[in-house]
Amino acid sequence: MLPTERIHQLTDLLNHYNQRYYQDSMSEVSDFEFDQLLAELTALESQYPDLKRDDSPTQRVGGDITKEFKSVTHRYPMLSLGNTYNEQDLRDFDERVRKGLNGAEFEYICELKFDGISLSMTYENGVLKQAVTRGDGTRGDDITANVRTIKTLPLAPRDVQPHPPMGALKIPPSGVRGLFEVRGEGFMPISSFEKLNHELEAADEQPYANPRNAASGAFKLQDSAEAARRGLDCYVYYFLSDDDIFAAHSDSLEALKMWGFNVSPSWEKCADIDQVLAYIEKWEQKRHTLPLATDGIVLKINAIAQQRELGFTAKSPRWAIAFKYKAENKPGILRAITYQVGRTGALTPVAHLDNLEENGKGMALSGTRVKRASLHNANEIERLDLRLNDVVFVEKGGEIIPKITGVDTERRGLRLTFPVVFPTHCPECNTELVRKETEANHYCPNERGCPPQLRGKIEHFIHRKATNIDSLGEGKIELLFEKGLVKNPADLYDLKYEDLFGLEKILIDDETGKEKRMGFKQKTVENILNGIQQSKTVPFKQVLFGIGIRYVGATVAEKLASFFKNMDALAAANFETLCNVPEVGEKIAQSVVEYFPEPENRDLVQRLQRAGLQMETDDAPVVAESEALTGKTFLYTGTFESMSREQLEQKIAANGGKLVSGVSGKLNFLVVGEGAGPSKLDKANKLGVKMISEAEFLAMID
Ligand code: IVH
Repeated sequence: MLPTERIHQLTDLLNHYNQRYYQDSMSEVSDFEFDQLLAELTALESQYPDLKRDDSPTQRVGGDITKEFKSVTHRYPMLSLGNTYNEQDLRDFDERVRKGLNGAEFEYICELKFDGISLSMTYENGVLKQAVTRGDGTRGDDITANVRTIKTLPLAPRDVQPHPPMGALKIPPSGVRGLFEVRGEGFMPISSFEKLNHELEAADEQPYANPRNAASGAFKLQDSAEAARRGLDCYVYYFLSDDDIFAAHSDSLEALKMWGFNVSPSWEKCADIDQVLAYIEKWEQKRHTLPLATDGIVLKINAIAQQRELGFTAKSPRWAIAFKYKAENKPGILRAITYQVGRTGALTPVAHLDNLEENGKGMALSGTRVKRASLHNANEIERLDLRLNDVVFVEKGGEIIPKITGVDTERRGLRLTFPVVFPTHCPECNTELVRKETEANHYCPNERGCPPQLRGKIEHFIHRKATNIDSLGEGKIELLFEKGLVKNPADLYDLKYEDLFGLEKILIDDETGKEKRMGFKQKTVENILNGIQQSKTVPFKQVLFGIGIRYVGATVAEKLASFFKNMDALAAANFETLCNVPEVGEKIAQSVVEYFPEPENRDLVQRLQRAGLQMETDDAPVVAESEALTGKTFLYTGTFESMSREQLEQKIAANGGKLVSGVSGKLNFLVVGEGAGPSKLDKANKLGVKMISEAEFLAMID
């Protein structure tokens, strides 16, 4: 068979399997067979890149890097929805519609309001061409590479003609092959959100406040392979085309479903506003059993002709409106506050909550049992004026993460309450706590002896973005630590088979209280040792991130690695040089300068080097060329004729300039290239930032 034929065959087959799996929950092949076919297609496509189809399933795993998202004008503007909050608002809306339709009969479609980000997908000749964010409603960002990673979104919808009883439906002969747009909500399922936040916390990075922010961040990632890993999903709820295809919104939802789109089955037809109210009541609690966050419902007039008759205001359709549920806020008892010590020594107070019956079962809130809520720091306890045994009000922020919103002061007089005494010493190692004036948190300064800090440093070191030893996890690290086998990351490289084989620990599940036995058998030990061996090949930037210099996150580590090229050069750098590195400010520079002179840190780095970890990058180091750009900040947009973006970055650094990450009042020069991003230009214009061409930039350093 010719490669072109095989590529077509594999693409069609794999797309078919994907559809069956994600839309019909049917598995027609084993995972193994699927992966093999996918690998074959990937190999063929890399050999014959021109033959790769737009709807190739290989794009699901991502890989494309987008430096800057192209700004795209929407074919049809993306409007928002008006909001209602109570029954009266809804009855008023119903009345307005009735008047608008001169008293004619009409029906509603009710849908849930999914809490994510609006997406617009354009299909042409049967394949997904472009996916764009809402942006300002007129223009949005082209995030196609990231949207293609959504497994439930068909890259080539199934060409199925609806059949009776949907007889009223008029799909044109071109069917799904015409030009059309599908709108929907891109979201991160709660399970993926929790996994991501857990990972971020382990890497000492800021977790997302709610799944919507997490989704929004993921859709804007430059690396689509990373977006693929974040497990994004999308529900579609709106069909648009120039042809007059559907008579009713419900027909479009049914057709979309048949074509293989992910349409939430939660929608319902409602004959009048009372039925709408019943729908709202029905889903108020039930929505919490869904795998994604929802914050209300949307009601739409079903008949397309009537939608057209009602039309739009400048901002939103007159034929649809949202109803927002109130976040559930309930009283509970603050039984205790405990204090957690993190990798950096920061102390986090955690509130332990119970229901008003105080039966130890926690509070039933928006679908889950809440037993704990973070209180962040001492200021928060003060701000809320908390006392132990208080009746407190608890709410789920963004409907997911519980937080205490206040105290029922009226009930305080009726109960025996106790002041919160913030600890003066670390609850783990009894060292006196410190609090810097500029920071909200208290810290345990016993970096070298406080168990959770030591464990946390090892957990950080094995993180996916660091040395990526995924055969070790928190539980295993804890066991190794307790047995005294590892006290710091370098100890991992001294582990031998005999040290590990037969180790055992009984774990108690936090939630269920059930016991689980963890034992190191032959396979586990081999996996751990293999993982440790593999970590010697991860690039320098990841090792640098892994050693856990305060404030040096994965991105900063990458910038430092590409600037200094090796650990020795970084260790020798002074404060001023460090401040010249893109994304590095004074706080980070200071932290790096303080890190390397410490004997324990030097020892760690040396031991890792001896163990064979990567301590340098392959690229040539930045050689200082001049001081021409000293003290000046730069940002670029677009592409350049005489050099790549990386070369431009190098030139800025080599001549003493500093690359910054966004347009702000602090930016001195925006270097404007071909295909410059309009949003950057706009902002630079507004802020009066000087814009220079490639030639002008080169003249500055010449
Ligand atoms: S319809 C012209 N249906 O809510 C009307 N929107 O506040 C187009 N949303 O921007 C929107 N679930 O991102 C519609 N079932 C649903 C929705 C929904 C969530 C979002 C959407 C929109 C926002 C308006």
